[in-house]
Amino acid sequence: MASGTDGRPKNVAIIMDGNGRWAQKRGLPRTVGHHRGVDRAREIIRVAPDLGIETLTLFAFSTENWRRPAYEVSVLMTLFRRYIRREAAELDMEGVQVRFIGRREGLPRDLQNLMHELEARTKDNTRLILQLALNYGARTEMTEGVKKIARAVAAGEIDPEKIGEETISEALWTGGVPDPDLVIRTSGEMRISNFLLWQIAYAELAFVDECWPDFDGALLEKILGSFAGRERRFGALKAIGLG
Ligand code: IPE
Ligand code: IPE
Ligand code: MG
Repeated sequence: MASGTDGRPKNVAIIMDGNGRWAQKRGLPRTVGHHRGVDRAREIIRVAPDLGIETLTLFAFSTENWRRPAYEVSVLMTLFRRYIRREAAELDMEGVQVRFIGRREGLPRDLQNLMHELEARTKDNTRLILQLALNYGARTEMTEGVKKIARAVAAGEIDPEKIGEETISEALWTGGVPDPDLVIRTSGEMRISNFLLWQIAYAELAFVDECWPDFDGALLEKILGSFAGRERRFGALKAIGLG
């Protein structure tokens, strides 16, 4: 199982939810919650390696989030641009390898360029793999993966009989990155909202009531601790000692 020596999850994915409600509860515009949410993401990325996390996947914008008012979408795109510009040097210095998962084509061209530059700049870093899910939807990811495999079959590069789970994992945007051991969702909502559907087949799930702008390193540490040493059986029976 992919967990540290103390049994803590090493591969963690977070659905950063509740920015809007956090702001509205305080009589503030929803976008203030998004600003504050970016600060929380920065802190979590900074503390993750010290908590034994090796891969961190953050859900920042879904393929369904385009249904929001144009103003909110445009503020979010501006926040993503600004985040990349401001944090690129520090992320690189901290040894973070940034990878974006999601449909690039739907995003503004200049943002796509910034994403590409950040990935190129940090590609050899190994202290933390950070997957940022931007314009991400698991069904779109799987549809694209199926097309990729179908093209390879049509070209005679893959024998359909040899298609295995690995072939599918590799064809996804997350190809080559370990599946999450733990998925955390903030704001009290208990749903997955089209996030990493293939990859979370055996992940533990943690739903916490705090909205994302109130999430911090101490809360993350507490959640990781509560999942330390959990026995994940992957369908088998409880491990029985021989002695
Ligand atoms: C999560 O917070 C951030 C994004 C989806 C971009 P929300 O914006 O979904 O906040 P709520 O759920 O409306 O409170
Ligand atoms: C999921 O949150 C997407 C992100 C956190 C980026 P949403 O707020 O968009 O999900 P729903 O609409 O409540 O399912
Ligand atoms: Mg939400």
